[in-house]
Amino acid sequence: MSNNINMSVEIAGVRLKNPVLAASGTFGFGREYSEYFDLSLLGGISVKGLTLKPRKGNPPPRIAETPSGILNSVGLQNPGVHYFIENEIPFLRKYDTAIIANASGNTVEEYEQMVEILSDADIDAIELNLSCPNVKEGCMSFGSTAEGIVNVVKRVKKYAKKPLIVKLTPNVTDIVEIAKAAEDSGADALSLINTLLGMAIDAKTRKPILKNITGGLSGPAIKPVALRMVYQVAQNVKIPVIGMGGISNGTDAVEFLLAGASAVMVGTAGLVNPYAWIETVKGIEEYMKETNISDVKELIGGLII
Ligand code: SIN
Repeated sequence: MSNNINMSVEIAGVRLKNPVLAASGTFGFGREYSEYFDLSLLGGISVKGLTLKPRKGNPPPRIAETPSGILNSVGLQNPGVHYFIENEIPFLRKYDTAIIANASGNTVEEYEQMVEILSDADIDAIELNLSCPNVKEGCMSFGSTAEGIVNVVKRVKKYAKKPLIVKLTPNVTDIVEIAKAAEDSGADALSLINTLLGMAIDAKTRKPILKNITGGLSGPAIKPVALRMVYQVAQNVKIPVIGMGGISNGTDAVEFLLAGASAVMVGTAGLVNPYAWIETVKGIEEYMKETNISDVKELIGGLII
């Protein structure tokens, strides 16, 4: 609460001091950004996607700038879940912010192991990554059908002692079917959207710009798609929805809250402006003051049709 404004929200039993989180993959483990601002100003941090073993990721080039966005084919580069638990959680726990561990696996068994390991770690929630488009096994290959979602979520739920947030891919025909499959299988919350599968070509060399040929598109270019999907999903599930996709400021965030998101994640904007996360928090607060709203929860689903 500041100036009689309540910014706090709750996602699956996890209280966030404000509805702005750092999106996985854009914030590492927070160390670099902690030199720019106090991480305690954030509602939460979803850390870089973790796997059982360390991964080097895909070969470069793996980032391509596009109009109003970027394509990435990072391929889940990370130091592995055990390194994260030993070295990064103690760092993040110095800050008063929720820690969300984004978890991936090549097989359903690996997802089960990840959830079992992370359930005993000092984190607040697990974000199950069923949506990375840049790896051959696991992730989007499981998350792009309702059957795949049901298979993974039902099985990992048995091991989950922390709230389970399922992160959805937009690369599907019917996002509502996928979201309901996750909810029915035991997801405590949903986060969406991950990146849209895309491609960039260099006309001079006649070659794809990314070594991996395709990558995931993020940034302002995808915001209308993300807003549409968040709106459709929020209308059709009872669990909380965390919205993301092209959010760069408070106004963007308010739009997602109005569409039905209970919280938002900011990602790509921070690669251009390292203060995008805290500016988004301030922007929501300013909007609330200007519109005489004292509790941010009043904005959730407040779209007027
Ligand atoms: C990547 O590491 O390739 C991106 C992660 C994701 O899209 O979930």
